[in-house]
Amino acid sequence: MSNLPKFSFQKPSVPSKGVAVLLVGEGLGFGPVGQAIEVASGEALSKAAKAAKFTGKAKTFLDIYAPDGVALDRILLAGVGDLAAMKPQEWHMLGGAVAAKLTDSIATATVVLEQTDAESADAATPDADAAAQFAAGAKLSSYRFDRYKTKKKDDDKPKKAPQKLVIAIEGHTAAKKAFATLDAVTDGTILARDLVNEPANILDTADFTRRAEALAELGVDVKVLGEKEMKKLKMNALLGVGQGSSSESRLVVMRWNGLGKTSKKKPVVFVGKGVVFDSGGISLKPGAGMEDMKGDMGGAACVTGLMHALAARKARVNAIGVIGLVENMPDGNAQRPGDIVTSMSGQTIEIVNTDAEGRLVLADALTYVQDKFKPALIVDLATLTGAIIVALGHHYAGMYANDDGLAAELTAAGEATGEKVWRMPLGKEYDKQIDSRFADMKNVGPRWGGSITAAQLLKRFVSDDIPWAHLDIAGTAFSSPQTDVNRGWASGFGVQLLNQLVADNYE
Ligand code: BES
Ligand code: MN
Ligand code: ZN
Repeated sequence: MSNLPKFSFQKPSVPSKGVAVLLVGEGLGFGPVGQAIEVASGEALSKAAKAAKFTGKAKTFLDIYAPDGVALDRILLAGVGDLAAMKPQEWHMLGGAVAAKLTDSIATATVVLEQTDAESADAATPDADAAAQFAAGAKLSSYRFDRYKTKKKDDDKPKKAPQKLVIAIEGHTAAKKAFATLDAVTDGTILARDLVNEPANILDTADFTRRAEALAELGVDVKVLGEKEMKKLKMNALLGVGQGSSSESRLVVMRWNGLGKTSKKKPVVFVGKGVVFDSGGISLKPGAGMEDMKGDMGGAACVTGLMHALAARKARVNAIGVIGLVENMPDGNAQRPGDIVTSMSGQTIEIVNTDAEGRLVLADALTYVQDKFKPALIVDLATLTGAIIVALGHHYAGMYANDDGLAAELTAAGEATGEKVWRMPLGKEYDKQIDSRFADMKNVGPRWGGSITAAQLLKRFVSDDIPWAHLDIAGTAFSSPQTDVNRGWASGFGVQLLNQLVADNYE
């Protein structure tokens, strides 16, 4: 987190030092501050634009270094096309793209958020939400996980974000306020990224628990169940996964009562798979790429980041986040293929493959939340199957739902935030494929449709009258495409999506 810029908001004026970023509309509308610089510098902007054939088209940039007549080291022109037509998500991505251009050890950069229409000569200013989205995008783009890089080479150093990022906008007070709210969500995303990036020798179940407990500072009530408590509750599906590890399995319950302690309103409930490392267990994974399985707690990271976001922005909602923290390791005490476990629900599961462990953790966590709370809805998230990556690649998370309304809300939240979900089918045909010869079900189906049969297993643990969605985020939590707002391995996928779901439908 050390590398992130400090943000401030003020009225637009010609900056007296550092780097100025100017938004330029199509046809070279410069905005009042840009126009002042243009005049003072002997038309340096339009001359440079002409020489570089820069027209202000969206997503194009032009750098002008040390222009005459102004005390600026550098002016970055950022083409925005038609500013008035930009959606919040486009402001978010623009902030990310601009921050990425400002990585050469800059002390202060001032972004002037205004633009003039070249034809009408009208000055246009984005609203407070657009400015906040811009700043949040710049922050997410600046995130680096470099905690363990002790030998920074000189040519690595320039990759730093600006130390200070000044957002200059007419309505700066409102913009600052809007950013404070959005920043809670950005910090939640960054928390989720940190958790996923941390290696499993550092982030074991105990360390993850401590980091979740730190949410108490924001007013989140955090309770932890250890193996003893879970044994009492007969959570044998979850416990079986962790029994080959020297780290204790945990269930962490995070509560945010945004409607007040006495509110009787049913909570929205989020459940996350938190396998801190997935070796596959006795059904050991192949060696190549196994290091990625330190990220097999991406669902739990998202739920923790979301609880941070909701509490930090004081969301007017009752929300509960539950994460199942286990490590899937092979040893003399590890679970075997062929073992049969009795889950908390009473249903029995034949373990055919110990590498299909996430669904076992979620099965008991899902039973727990229904027993304990009266959920208005449940969304679970898990890096559950390689099969969902085969189906959707890295651009969409797979979504399964027993409720069309919830599915539509999640789809809309995905489009609004860029954390997209694609609905996958559930059905009797698939459900049958996990029937077992020896128990109520087996933990894997046939080879094909592996993400669907995993979802069918979860469905057996959810009551039909609770709206429920399962997000398979194996393709989106890490190793996902680099974008203007995601330049690292862990994406923090789901925090913005679920925050939007809550803000749009449950507050
Ligand atoms: N954690 C993995 C799924 C995974 C794979 C996540 C790649 C992210 C990237 C999960 O526990 C697993 O091992 N699933 C198996 C299931 C199989 C044994 C039925 C898989 O997908 O191969
Ligand atoms: Mn596995
Ligand atoms: Zn796993």
